[in-house]
Amino acid sequence: MGEPMNIRLAPSLLSADFSRLADEVADVQSAGADLLHLDIMDAHFVPNLTFGPPVVRSLSPHCSIPLDAHLMVTDPDLLLEDLAAAQVARIAVHIEACDHLQRTLGRIRAADIEAGVAINPATSLGLLEDALPWADFVLVMSVNPGFGGQEFIPESLDKIRRLRQMAGMRELDIAVDGGVCAKNAAALVVAGATTLIAGSAVFGTADRTRALADLRDAALTGVVQ
Ligand code: DX5
Ligand code: ZN
Repeated sequence: MGEPMNIRLAPSLLSADFSRLADEVADVQSAGADLLHLDIMDAHFVPNLTFGPPVVRSLSPHCSIPLDAHLMVTDPDLLLEDLAAAQVARIAVHIEACDHLQRTLGRIRAADIEAGVAINPATSLGLLEDALPWADFVLVMSVNPGFGGQEFIPESLDKIRRLRQMAGMRELDIAVDGGVCAKNAAALVVAGATTLIAGSAVFGTADRTRALADLRDAALTGVVQ
């Protein structure tokens, strides 16, 4: 292992006040967020419905930090062009939703967008192994996707550890999403996570500067261990 990779914090807009999205984005940006995580759900792949490319396109000019789209939809290919037009920096698609994952990841990269593979808690990492060469990052779900504020599934730590081993010498960005908070941040970083996605732990609190500082302090404890 070389130098530890930077740890990035990505507040998830899912827990924001949807009536004031631009203000909410400005708030977490000034509070020190590194990325803005966008949960796009279709009430089919997951039992919830959020927002889609038109909202992302409206928000995009208000964002100075990279947009990180997480597609919890049955047919992610349908959205790629519109999300590229909305200037997102990263797109994660679910391995469970993609019949032709290599092609979908290739389409994302062809649009100069970082391509990620998201994986549900009970999906085996073995399915992911052959897709890694075409992925810029992996998003490990530490809850079943669909809702904010769920409890962290502790087995996710071992999954992240095994994925970090699988990545070997490669500096693969491993994002973790679901139930992330200051209490588990250090353990997640020790296991190998490099991007921490947090909805309720950031947007669910009144003082986002404090929430992000607490999360970062906790995460950095994991880096020096
Ligand atoms: C869940 C979403 C997450 C969600 C995380 O399906 O993918 O990004 O916003 O929310 P918390 O951090 O509250 O678990
Ligand atoms: Zn997400």
